[in-house]
Amino acid sequence: MNTQGIADTTHEIAIGDAQSLDRIPDESVDLVVTSPPYPMIEMWDTLFTAQHPEIKNLMEHGLGKKAFLLMHKLLDPVWLEIKRTLKPGGFVCINIGDATRTVGNSFQLYPNHTIIQKRFFELQFDALPIILWWKPTNAPNKFMGSGMLAAGAYVTLEHEYILIFRKGAKREFSNREQKLGRRQSALFWEERNTWYSDRWDLNGVRQILPRTKVRKRSAAYPFELAYRLINMFSVQGDLVVDPFLGTGTTLFAAMTACRNSMGVELERGFIPLIKSQAKEVIPKMNDYICNRINAHKQFVHEHILQNKKLPYKNRHYGFAVKTRQETDLFIPYINRIHLSGPLCFNVSYYNKATKANPHIIYKLQ
Ligand SMILES: C[S@@+](CC[C@H](N)C(=O)[O-])C[C@H]1O[C@@H](n2cnc3c(N)ncnc32)[C@H](O)[C@@H]1O
Repeated sequence: MNTQGIADTTHEIAIGDAQSLDRIPDESVDLVVTSPPYPMIEMWDTLFTAQHPEIKNLMEHGLGKKAFLLMHKLLDPVWLEIKRTLKPGGFVCINIGDATRTVGNSFQLYPNHTIIQKRFFELQFDALPIILWWKPTNAPNKFMGSGMLAAGAYVTLEHEYILIFRKGAKREFSNREQKLGRRQSALFWEERNTWYSDRWDLNGVRQILPRTKVRKRSAAYPFELAYRLINMFSVQGDLVVDPFLGTGTTLFAAMTACRNSMGVELERGFIPLIKSQAKEVIPKMNDYICNRINAHKQFVHEHILQNKKLPYKNRHYGFAVKTRQETDLFIPYINRIHLSGPLCFNVSYYNKATKANPHIIYKLQ
């Protein structure tokens, strides 16, 4: 923590088309965390067709592959804008699932992740190892095709992808303040082991949208997914952008992770939902932070029980940690979220490792 304490963060929503992110200056963004509408998933047909009416025609004529490629063409301008606005060394994390669908007489897989990976490769991003988001289902219809008969049944589709790209060479943390900011944003050793693994077992979120008539399903990803990525690929005080904001998950994850954020969304109807969530979300966010810290305390406790030593001490919390990299780690609790403009939130944080939260059971030493 610097001597001034934890700086407030700001979180802005822009209603509009992410094909043009003209409000965002060149090379100003540290991280993009997002999930676009998935080509060939039925819920997005209307949206894609509104942007290019030929898509409907192609689908009606059984030309699934052509429709699929045209849908991806509509996402291309957004990827270009990401390239323009991202700082050198900045990261892009894209959650995407493939689609299976019968068009005309043909059932097949539409490999969304392959197309996006190719596009970013062509845009000269460095592709990095991806995460398989494994979300098993018990649905009886998960096995597709003709059951037990060879050459006519298909394997289940129970995963999505998180594609990860970097714009150019590794980010430098050169001066003292930048280095400290990076150390303060560290993860616990035991979190590293799960978060940086290539398979995440995370439950999906409830897709029902209670407070809006925008659409039936939210298409939201889990808070945990966005929160982990933000912690893994940016530092506190950075700017995180989500060009397909939806219900605002990335924005709330950025608030909790002490990053600034900006989200772009076509649907104005999500604003009341995001604003009402902002009013009531602080206890949930602080519980989340508290759980991270308590999980670490449990990890320390287990080491003590096994007579194992953790050699370092964190200077904010006073508890033991496994590596020197965790000694400055600090996860600020949220103090206040307030609307600082029609579509802009300001978030302030507690500067101390404890706050008046009845759930917090550890003591600062
Ligand atoms: C898969 S959802 C993202 C959901 C989000 N991650 C969440 O947790 O709620 C994709 C979102 O992108 C929006 N969208 C689609 N095309 C867009 C565009 N060209 N510009 C901005 N938003 C767009 C859709 O309205 C939808 O809310």
